[in-house]
Amino acid sequence: MPAIIKTNDEIEKMRIAGQQAADVLAMIEPFIQIGVTTNELNQRCHDFIVNEQGGIPAPLNYHGFPKSICTSLNYVVCHGIPNDKALKDGDVINVDITVIQNGFHGDTSKMFMVGKTSILAERLSRVAQECLYIGIKLVKPGARLGDIGAAIQKHAEDHSYSVVREYCGHGIGAGFHEEPQVLHYGKKGTGETLQVGQCFTIEPMVNAGKRACKVLKDDWTVITKDKKLSAQWEHTLLVTETGVEILTLRPEETIERIINHD
Ligand code: MF3
Ligand code: CO
Ligand code: CO
Repeated sequence: MPAIIKTNDEIEKMRIAGQQAADVLAMIEPFIQIGVTTNELNQRCHDFIVNEQGGIPAPLNYHGFPKSICTSLNYVVCHGIPNDKALKDGDVINVDITVIQNGFHGDTSKMFMVGKTSILAERLSRVAQECLYIGIKLVKPGARLGDIGAAIQKHAEDHSYSVVREYCGHGIGAGFHEEPQVLHYGKKGTGETLQVGQCFTIEPMVNAGKRACKVLKDDWTVITKDKKLSAQWEHTLLVTETGVEILTLRPEETIERIINHD
């Protein structure tokens, strides 16, 4: 199935949804502290999206997901469900936000460090963010999805980390998860060719140990089989005539919002 190409009007809506998702991550940052529960983070994000932004938290009731955000702690790979456990010193947590505004989705996540974290956790998180940025920098019309996957895989494996294969990035727009699937591993010169006006996410999950995962009995929480740490960062992107626009960029980031290759 081909990717959906957005009209200018739809692209403007994607920019707004992307900005709002980024704003939620900025809003929640100061609350991510020792002692706070992930349910409290969920409630704050939910209220901000609904009451301040006039949007909809996309995860809530999505295929039965019970909360408004995903909170994935330590060896949780993705789709962690907020609960009543308090964050503790040394935890690392991914918060994944998806906002629907004017019928369009903005999807983004980042890692947060709680208290004093290990050098190992910080290095894993940094390399996972580098994987995301390396992928983003390859996005332009004519590039192949396999080019992106291969570069991400190489960077992770060059650091003796592994890339999760069961979950991937995705087209995004009026749908939360549209075509195509965006694998974070693969071979250069293979896969679909990117086209101007398509929107998709890159969201590599990088494991400190082996890539194998399993899903807990709650049917959502994905953990590493070896219980070693996992890290993930995500952006929503637009393919432009000359490269890429990062629709969910935050002010703290050093990468450019718009990358022009000519
Ligand atoms: N935000 C996740 C993604 O990046 C999807 C979460 S689906 C949910 O694609 F149901 F778990 F919320
Ligand atoms: Co996503
Ligand atoms: Co997401």
